[in-house]
Amino acid sequence: MASAEVQARAAPQTAGSADRAVRPLLEVDGVTLQYKTKEHLVTATYRVSFAVFPADRFVVLGPSGCGKSTLLKGVAGFLAPAEGEIRLNGRAVAGPGPDRMMVFQEFDQLLPWKTVKQNVTFPMRTSGRYGAAEAEERARAAIAKVNLAKFADVYPHMLSGGMKQRVAIARALAMEPDILLMDEPFAALDALTRRKMQEELLRLWDDVRFTVLFVTHSIEEAIVIGNRILVLSPHPGQVRAELNAHEHDHASQDGEAFGALRQRIHDMLFAERIEQEEAERNE
Ligand SMILES: Nc1ncnc2c1ncn2[C@@H]1O[C@H](COP(=O)(O)OP(=O)(O)OP(=O)(O)O)[C@@H](O)[C@H]1O
Ligand SMILES: [Mg+2]
Repeated sequence: MASAEVQARAAPQTAGSADRAVRPLLEVDGVTLQYKTKEHLVTATYRVSFAVFPADRFVVLGPSGCGKSTLLKGVAGFLAPAEGEIRLNGRAVAGPGPDRMMVFQEFDQLLPWKTVKQNVTFPMRTSGRYGAAEAEERARAAIAKVNLAKFADVYPHMLSGGMKQRVAIARALAMEPDILLMDEPFAALDALTRRKMQEELLRLWDDVRFTVLFVTHSIEEAIVIGNRILVLSPHPGQVRAELNAHEHDHASQDGEAFGALRQRIHDMLFAERIEQEEAERNE
């Protein structure tokens, strides 16, 4: 990574950055992730390093196929690194656990035969973390936080895509994970709903101050959601830059600084693509 691209850590007003001597919550340290199939060895990410601090909204941004989902799978503990280490609270991640909850892009991540409330209580009960009464109470509070109190007893098929994603977020947050992992959670929504969901997530973050690792391939979404953005190169994903975006939200979207950052990231991703296309032509 060019050192000029690595900006200073977030400014003091950013949550979790008041004291950067604080130990990182999540450390991804020189991580190479691979898929071994019978015929091929696919390297999805190559020696990726970054650190996520408490209350960070850390965004991983990169083109399709650069290994963003694979990286989340690694952090979630579904895939062991071929090289490097992933540490949560200083301990190497050895498998999945309730300290890392995932929200996916797909609307069908809810159990269709369970109501909204039952979907939210389900992981709390099966993980053995909470008793019935406490799970019930926590579910009620989480559902209210995502403005679905009126829908607590309906089934997923009666909800819109955006509402289903809000249930998935409530379900994850009710577990009070150390880190929330979100894989393009709003990508399948229409533009208006997507924007509303981004606003809601930021409002929720203001309220709860959770730590989130958020994957997207939208530059705008990365700048709006993230306080820090890790830009990955195309396949295999390598760190291209780590940028600050803490001063931006929807309100600054039409401003000059937002536009400049968007252009800078765009050039970064586009330059990579041109380099790759040229390399492929010369092969
Ligand atoms: N189960 C798998 N077996 C083999 N290769 C895989 C598997 N899953 C992903 N890959 C490969 O790993 C690379 C990274 O895939 P990944 O899904 O992590 O990308 P991504 O950045 O999330 O892309 P998108 O933005 O399209 O979701 C791709 O080349 C993909 O083909
Ligand atoms: Mg993906």
